[in-house]
Amino acid sequence: EKGGWPSFMDKEIHEDPSAVADTLLGRFDAKGDIALDEVHIDEEVFRSIDKIIVVACGTASYAGMVAKYAIEHWVRIPVEVELAHEFRYRDPILTHRTLVVAISQSGETMDTLMALRHAREQGSRVLAICNTQGSSIPRESDAVLYTHAGPEIAVASTKAFLAQIVAAYMLGLYLAQVKGTMFADEIRQIVGQLKAMPAKIQWVLDHQADQVEQAARRLSGARSFLFLGRHVGYPVAMEGALKLKEIAYTFTEGFAAGELKHGPIALVEEGEPVVVIVPSSHGRDTLHNKVISGIEEVKARGAFTIAVAEEGDPDAERYADVVFWRPACPTLLSPLVDVVPLQLLAMDMAQIKGLDVDKPRNLAKSVTVE
Ligand code: F6R
Repeated sequence: EKGGWPSFMDKEIHEDPSAVADTLLGRFDAKGDIALDEVHIDEEVFRSIDKIIVVACGTASYAGMVAKYAIEHWVRIPVEVELAHEFRYRDPILTHRTLVVAISQSGETMDTLMALRHAREQGSRVLAICNTQGSSIPRESDAVLYTHAGPEIAVASTKAFLAQIVAAYMLGLYLAQVKGTMFADEIRQIVGQLKAMPAKIQWVLDHQADQVEQAARRLSGARSFLFLGRHVGYPVAMEGALKLKEIAYTFTEGFAAGELKHGPIALVEEGEPVVVIVPSSHGRDTLHNKVISGIEEVKARGAFTIAVAEEGDPDAERYADVVFWRPACPTLLSPLVDVVPLQLLAMDMAQIKGLDVDKPRNLAKSVTVE
């Protein structure tokens, strides 16, 4: 059942490309416009949506954070991302024009289920992004957009994260289409770029895994790791930190690169591993340069720096001790490749430490209690 892989996690990381490809399948009409046939909510209702609130936990919440950057940019409506277990306790502002998007791999996470029930009681529509057909969360939602990642067995979520981002992006592009906030050509261009992602993810799996494993060997004794990123790299950093703590039991913190000087830089001492998600070097704009200067700052304090960067980025090459390369792609799509070496890193570190990669201690695959 592991298909020859040493663990389910290994198998599932190698299914990252197909999770993306399959989640894109069947979402278009003959003209190439986005058609979310399975979502039985009228176009008219979608047109009236003026706010999105994503409710989710853990990895799924980081997929929501990534989607926030894209959807706000494309649709020009506010997107809030709330941990499902916090949501109900703060009297959230919900109207019939609010779309609540519940993201869940298992579809059985009680915290997320309770959040969506609360949203529906307040008169908001709930759309589930879910990987498990017929599970509780889609059953209790007004609509569902299934991710087609295939069953995820390993406790740590990997391929589902990529599929969640793709599904949320399809929702965003669909909203842009019905609300007319983007031209059809622009939408098609992004869809084309999304369709090109599985091959780029495959490239990372084929050509960066050795590099990741070497880094894991070198760093397996480290007591803690820091992860930092900016813009969509920020939730990717959070996700990389979560994977490493849950699988390899390494103390990690993920944070926004701009926060460094507001506190976390005090943690940096000689040899501290710091993983930095570097945005596209194309044009070497402020976003890229700011993150590079973050690498310089931690390096000046003795950090061992690991960058995830675009192939050929001269600054990453110059300032980072180790680089995991990604093929060039638009910034908003880069989380789909950048998370892959971080998934591998967590898995390799756990394996080197002799831990059970698929079943980390204290954790269950779906958390069906509040
Ligand atoms: C992390 C992980 C958890 C889940 C979270 C939500 O690897 O597996 O953080 O992402 O418990 O689970 P679902 O998506 O099933 O609602």
